[in-house]
Amino acid sequence: MRSRTRRTWPPRPRRHKPEGRLVRSWADLCATGPLERTSRRIRFPTARDRRTVPSSGSRTITKGMPRRGRVDPVGVPHNAGPDAADRIPTEADCLIGGVDWAGVEDRVRAQQRNREVHTPVISLFRWWARRPHALIGALLDAATEANGSVVVADPFSGGGTVAIEAVRRNLVTYAQDLHPWAVTGLRSALEEIDPVVLQGAAQRVLERLVDQRRALYASECPQHGDCEVLTALWVREVRCPSCADHVFLYPYSYISRATRAADERWGWWGCTACGSVTRSALTVAARRCGGCGRRLEGPDHPLLRGMRARCPHRACRREFDALQDAPSWALALVQRNCADGVHLGRPTPAEIRQAAKTPPAIPSPLAEAIPDGLETTILRRAGFNTWADLYAPRQIESLLAAGAAIDELPHPAQVKDRLRLALCSAGEMAGRVSRWDRHYPKAYEAIANHRYAVIGLSAEVNLLADRGRGVLPRRFAASVKAARWRSEQLPRGLRVSKRASTGRRQQLDGAHLAHGSSVRQLAPRSSVDLVLTDPPYFDDVQYAELAALFLAWARTTGLESDSIELDLAQEAVANTRRGTDAERYRSLLTRILTETRRTLKPDGRMILTFHNTDLRAWWALGRALHDAHFGIRALAVAWAENDADHSKRGRLAFQRDLVIECRPQPSPDQPVIAGDPGESSETLELLAAGRAIAAMPRDESLADFRARYRQLRGPVTVARISPTEQDRKRD
Ligand SMILES: C[S@@+](CC[C@H](N)C(=O)[O-])C[C@H]1O[C@@H](n2cnc3c(N)ncnc32)[C@H](O)[C@@H]1O
Ligand SMILES: [Zn+2]
Ligand SMILES: [Zn+2]
Ligand SMILES: [Zn+2]
Repeated sequence: MRSRTRRTWPPRPRRHKPEGRLVRSWADLCATGPLERTSRRIRFPTARDRRTVPSSGSRTITKGMPRRGRVDPVGVPHNAGPDAADRIPTEADCLIGGVDWAGVEDRVRAQQRNREVHTPVISLFRWWARRPHALIGALLDAATEANGSVVVADPFSGGGTVAIEAVRRNLVTYAQDLHPWAVTGLRSALEEIDPVVLQGAAQRVLERLVDQRRALYASECPQHGDCEVLTALWVREVRCPSCADHVFLYPYSYISRATRAADERWGWWGCTACGSVTRSALTVAARRCGGCGRRLEGPDHPLLRGMRARCPHRACRREFDALQDAPSWALALVQRNCADGVHLGRPTPAEIRQAAKTPPAIPSPLAEAIPDGLETTILRRAGFNTWADLYAPRQIESLLAAGAAIDELPHPAQVKDRLRLALCSAGEMAGRVSRWDRHYPKAYEAIANHRYAVIGLSAEVNLLADRGRGVLPRRFAASVKAARWRSEQLPRGLRVSKRASTGRRQQLDGAHLAHGSSVRQLAPRSSVDLVLTDPPYFDDVQYAELAALFLAWARTTGLESDSIELDLAQEAVANTRRGTDAERYRSLLTRILTETRRTLKPDGRMILTFHNTDLRAWWALGRALHDAHFGIRALAVAWAENDADHSKRGRLAFQRDLVIECRPQPSPDQPVIAGDPGESSETLELLAAGRAIAAMPRDESLADFRARYRQLRGPVTVARISPTEQDRKRD
């Protein structure tokens, strides 16, 4: 039965209180959940409180703080002579010995489970391989306990964990990253902004977008009348190269569970031959297409293996490359928000017409060619030539309309830029490459799991809707929450500056941010007490390729200057498509660490966190540290729980980081092991790698390093670090 009661649009599910205005529901979003109340300075147990846990075999220290004055002479040449033995590191010589590692692990585990609640500021902008705030906080606390106020620098600042935690502790901070998106995001995280003003501005933008939202996504549900389309699922359509008939590239016939309800008994099934979708019980053993009567495959039977499709038409059955043609899409299913709740259904003719919008005029940053890269290659192979190609036309129109509404606001530039940042972030829901989780129906961003993925079924999220993953109102709300967190957790009156790394060097104060390669940094010579950083993890995450989507939108909206340059060749990652190998990674790291050493005070420290399953990464890091004249003084193993952050590429991954404390002088001895790292195979491997790089002879070849690493590691049942290139499986 079709009910035709007129309600306010967009319709709200009955169980909710009816709301007169769109913005009320959005304002609710901004208000959800109390923020974690932590004191500005997180206190960790002091040396006195700490347990001393001796561990067999290694020199373990659990107490003792370095003090100013107990420092080594500067400028000892690399591989110092016999007198260097006088400078064997002692307990007092090591900063990470002042950390209660067991306590840190507990905090990291608790926080990583729900990071957005603990530090809402991370929802401001997406970045990868963000370090746990609790770990970084503990290292900073150890440094300040030992030395009082310290100047902190992070030359690979990424998501900004170090800078945020340093500012939280009132420390002068320098942060630099190659990528403008990361630095712009970090600036927004640090700058004071009135959450109430921001919320009011966002509300105005959303009000202005109501007509657009209605024109693009208002609809009529055949069962419930007025509704809003929340998501449109599209199937890629090709012609069989043999029989020229249509083939619909459903990755599985089973497209989606009908709802998320635990007792849901229904699902939706797609037909590769006629494209139509069929509603069918999840429990039945076999089913036929409601459109053409063909038998549909079982739920886990893959229809696209290695992106090859098989023609389903009788007497043909040809197997062919599914991505050979330019992409063409058919609307398969729509997810509607009706008065009765959210449900999936076959699209009506009106919805098909509405969805078949011609794309608006494409602004030049979005019309640029997608460059070839390790992650972007799949996009190009699938016939996506420009960034705009990754979006459904309605999404581009939605975001451009939002950009125009922001431009028209009477608010200060800072407020508008904050909203632009949220808008650009919504760009990650690029509808032609967003995935749909069929078991727990919802859309995923185009770069989920740090990869672009191309599949035959993609999800166009209505970015103007106020429910669903990644929509604009939710991003605005997240931005308001981050602003509130900032006002509660970070000091007032902070000076935040952001400049290109080619600029003039200046004395540091407040928070100094720079974008550009850290082969040149703006911090003056000998100005930094503590460098706390983590370099890119070799080829694990291709930051610039993933963030390219955001940069395209940032240039489109004016958040970044259209002429901003990002020199991909400067990115310190290994990337076979760009021809940057372990050697290039090594040489870039060496230059950056040499420059970092220039900024460090003679009695300063550098603490790195690192892990990698590729031994070449460790070799490159070790060589870079030595060539930049750093000596490794201490090692610790920290829980990092990287599930959500590191692309696994089919390998056994590390869940812990090696923490490496260095001094700007060569270290003649084996490093101190701080804390009680335990004896898991993961820990053994990390410590063996750490010891191997600590004792690295000058100019050691990869082959020699491999042999030494194996010896130090000894036998392990499962090896995460693959000692040879051939062992590594690339997919
Ligand atoms: C492991 S991430 C840092 C993550 C950060 N510590 C956090 O918690 O969010 C490494 C960073 O190095 C940056 N990077 C790569 N090459 C660089 C270069 N030449 N100069 C400066 N930063 C670079 C990447 O953009 C990336 O953000
Ligand atoms: Zn309905
Ligand atoms: Zn065929
Ligand atoms: Zn069919």
